[in-house]
Amino acid sequence: MKILVIGGGGREHAMVWKLAQSASVEKVWCAPGNGGIAKDAECVPLDVKDVKAAADLAARLGVDLTIVGPEMPLVLGIADEFERRGLRLLGPGEKAAQLEGSKVFSKRFMQGHDIPTAGVYGVYLEALEAYTALDSVDWPLVIKADGLCAGKGVLVTSSADEATEFVERAMVKGEFGEAGSRVMFEEALVGEELSYIILTDGTNFIRMAPARDHKRAFDNDEGPNTGGMGVYSIDEILPAALEKTIIETIVRPTLDGLRADGMAYRGFLYFGLMLTEDGPKVLEYNCRLGDPETEAVLPRADFDLAKACMQAAQGDLSGIEVKWRPGAGVCVVIASKGYPGDPQTGVEIRGLEDAAKVPGAVVFHAGTRGSGSTCYTNGGRVLVVSAMGEDLASARRVAYEAVGKIKIEGAHYRKDIGAKAAKG
Ligand code: AMP
Ligand code: GLY
Repeated sequence: MKILVIGGGGREHAMVWKLAQSASVEKVWCAPGNGGIAKDAECVPLDVKDVKAAADLAARLGVDLTIVGPEMPLVLGIADEFERRGLRLLGPGEKAAQLEGSKVFSKRFMQGHDIPTAGVYGVYLEALEAYTALDSVDWPLVIKADGLCAGKGVLVTSSADEATEFVERAMVKGEFGEAGSRVMFEEALVGEELSYIILTDGTNFIRMAPARDHKRAFDNDEGPNTGGMGVYSIDEILPAALEKTIIETIVRPTLDGLRADGMAYRGFLYFGLMLTEDGPKVLEYNCRLGDPETEAVLPRADFDLAKACMQAAQGDLSGIEVKWRPGAGVCVVIASKGYPGDPQTGVEIRGLEDAAKVPGAVVFHAGTRGSGSTCYTNGGRVLVVSAMGEDLASARRVAYEAVGKIKIEGAHYRKDIGAKAAKG
């Protein structure tokens, strides 16, 4: 199989790294990739928002399968473009990708198919309406910008001042662009979060190892929401009874609902769940693998990922067997100074070679440029350091030992990824 992976972050690095290990894979390209990915795949320039150029590229390379990493090209209709051109791609079409592309669309979908989720106070197109609505909500309140904001368009707050400021940033100052022109207020759910990710052909599905992200920027879940600062994956966070409930009340109704609404879905589907006292509820859908969930989960995969992706893209996942290595996977994100606000880029990254020498650790590149001995920061999330271990404590030790070797001026990372769960 010849495979093209679209994207150029830590998730795509982990995907390429895993796919390249498969006996059924002859060659992997990544577009646009990055300096780190270039060690595991041939990188080709691409603007991921240009879905026509992506199709041209896949046709020119003669690939058997294109796998899309990030949400943006999916929301822009890359799957539809490939289908028109008779090119095989794994990922949902434009309409189904709205499950991630619009919080209002996904809320209406869930409400329409009785899928448990947070209640809604309202959806607002005018800042004035939103300010007024703040007088009649319960606190804490969750405010969501409707469109894609790389994980930064959500505020959970008990402060009316903070809520007002967020509405102003989204709807008056236009900080999220078009994505913030419509906002939704919803009920705050309480519980532990769980990232439950499946690969589906629309009917059959296999699931990824369960994972837990750390969304806040700083230790002890302080600071603003980010795209994710680190993840651990252990089977203990998904007892069999809980999984049964998730499948019966959330996964099946979602797949049935997609089919009923005329949306064929072939690809990864991510359920961001809150495990509440009243059972699991959906916080969000993502139409792709999680980032950084992928970097903690794929190292645990003990099956042919390329084959599973191909079969899902062909519409028949039945018969695929998945096996996950026991123990733990963990990953820690090293972020630029200023992230998730305005990240400082162009800073030299030192210590990559020393980190790579730590047994059991793998360093995935997210926002980097350059390669070899000189590599520079090129985004908010710079590197994702991943490790496996026989238990969470040993995986954490390895990951943090490797993190300690990397030097980037001003960078920050959380020191408590998986800490609570490791203590038991
Ligand atoms: P989302 O992009 O919708 O997943 O939101 C990002 C993060 O905000 C989630 O991972 C949660 O940590 C938090 N969040 C979103 N919706 C809610 C909610 N209804 N109640 C509590 N926290 C939420
Ligand atoms: N880590 C959360 C996400 O991928 O959206």
